[in-house]
Amino acid sequence: MTTTITPLTKRPAWKALTSHHKKIRGQHLRKLFAADPKRGERMTAGAAGLFLDYSKNRVTNETLKLLLKLAQESGLRGRIKAMFSGEKINITENRAVLHVALRAPKGAKIIVDGKNVVPEVHAVLDKMEAFSKRIRSGAWKGHTGKRIRNIVNIGIGGSDLGPVMAYEALKHYSERGLVFRFVSNVDGADFVEATHDLDPAETLFIVSSKTFTTQETMANAQSARVWLLKGLGGNLKAVAKHFVAVSTNAEKVSAFGIDTANMFGFWDWVGGRYSMDSAIGLSTMLATGPKNYRALLAGFHAMDEHFRTAPFEKNLPVLMALLSVWNTDFLGAETVAVLPYENYLKRFPAYLQQLTMESNGKHVTLDGKPVDYQTSPVYWGEPGTNGQHSFYQLIHQGTRLIPCDFIAFAHALTPLGRHHDMLLANVFAQAEALAFGKTAAEVKAEGTAGWLVPHRVFEGNRPSNTILAGRLTPEVLGKLVALYEHIVFVQGAIWSVNPFDQWGVELGKALAQRIVPELESKAAPKLAHDSSTNNLIRLYRKMKTRE
Ligand code: F6P
Repeated sequence: MTTTITPLTKRPAWKALTSHHKKIRGQHLRKLFAADPKRGERMTAGAAGLFLDYSKNRVTNETLKLLLKLAQESGLRGRIKAMFSGEKINITENRAVLHVALRAPKGAKIIVDGKNVVPEVHAVLDKMEAFSKRIRSGAWKGHTGKRIRNIVNIGIGGSDLGPVMAYEALKHYSERGLVFRFVSNVDGADFVEATHDLDPAETLFIVSSKTFTTQETMANAQSARVWLLKGLGGNLKAVAKHFVAVSTNAEKVSAFGIDTANMFGFWDWVGGRYSMDSAIGLSTMLATGPKNYRALLAGFHAMDEHFRTAPFEKNLPVLMALLSVWNTDFLGAETVAVLPYENYLKRFPAYLQQLTMESNGKHVTLDGKPVDYQTSPVYWGEPGTNGQHSFYQLIHQGTRLIPCDFIAFAHALTPLGRHHDMLLANVFAQAEALAFGKTAAEVKAEGTAGWLVPHRVFEGNRPSNTILAGRLTPEVLGKLVALYEHIVFVQGAIWSVNPFDQWGVELGKALAQRIVPELESKAAPKLAHDSSTNNLIRLYRKMKTRE
């Protein structure tokens, strides 16, 4: 299927932005702020309780006007409508893209292939709720009659990163009597370390895999089965009490030996990296309880509604996406640092890496033409203030431009003396220092020796966004995740790429499948790779026979 779209660099607004950039590229944020004393109040937006200050971006009113025009010319309004109404916008896989249906309220109607999917979504949610209550109350017993105290989610990519991130983010709300572990890597150390102190009689495994074919997850699930049976005397009946599955693939789940009555389903219109609020969130519901989980969904939905209905100039995901396009394609930024000043969000940057880069790390447009502009930047980050004592030096004085998204909350979940004011002072200070820096004249005026002055100068003019919210509740987490999901969507619409496929992960997977038997065979295999790969395989075979 092909779609006709004017190539990005031929859109009038893009051309206008190119000349506009030449005109304003010398401008410093110091000057922009000095010329407009209200800039810091004006260039802000709010939605569903999230406040965004985007005034510290290197943009003028004209830049914003042209970026908003670019959104119109890219057909963004139509793309949003198409997604929300269940059109098959994932054209390379011929699928609808409906993570927004996962958090639609009960009475809503979203039709895919002639069927309203919302009742199915709620049926799964109700099943998750009933199961969570049984586990949390101790009504669900393991094979030996003991209650479940340990929950191990086995999954990778979207079947791991969302659950881990949400567990860490919402730990404050979690049931402390339950132990949660997450196993993703095919490196056996991950499984061994996650289970070494657990009693199999009290352990429940959630095998989370959309396809139920992913090599890493299947290997870990098999090892879990062996571990459990070994611990419980080998009775196969134990599997039913200690394994549940989250998947779209009932056939494979049942072939693995998990009763499909203990399977929580979702659908092919939920992408892996957009699935943390589907049944993939079972561990999140087990940890925080059904009420908190539903509040998380309500948060997602509030941001969906904002995204769907707000005018672009007040629309948080649209504004943030357009600014990221400006930073990436006009200012030449290669990365975006996401810096949550909230320790519970420590896995948020890792979660965003898959969401952003697996979505928009694309080299061809929807109609298969190579792009002649940059697509997704590299997203990365660490919680503040730790990053300040590590990589912030480069952001302040290095040679690269690194736009930052700062995320902070007015209230600490766990107040402790003066800590929260100190934390917030740091986030505001960092954004201020990045934008305004410190001139040579200011450094000199402090009595700094002449030779030392250049070392102590901060050029400034480093762009950042600051997102401020009340406190990190389940609802706010939902809003935050949906915000970034929709940023990715808008970026994809501007860049004319498909954010919903991931063909780029296939080649490595296929080659690994081919190499496994070459590493395991008794007889020396006939190798037909390049000389480097052949040599590495031979060397490994030799080395693994020696201690
Ligand atoms: O890495 C590719 C990928 O397909 C991701 O998109 C997905 O989240 C992950 O693998 C896990 O897939 P599954 O849930 O099918 O095991």
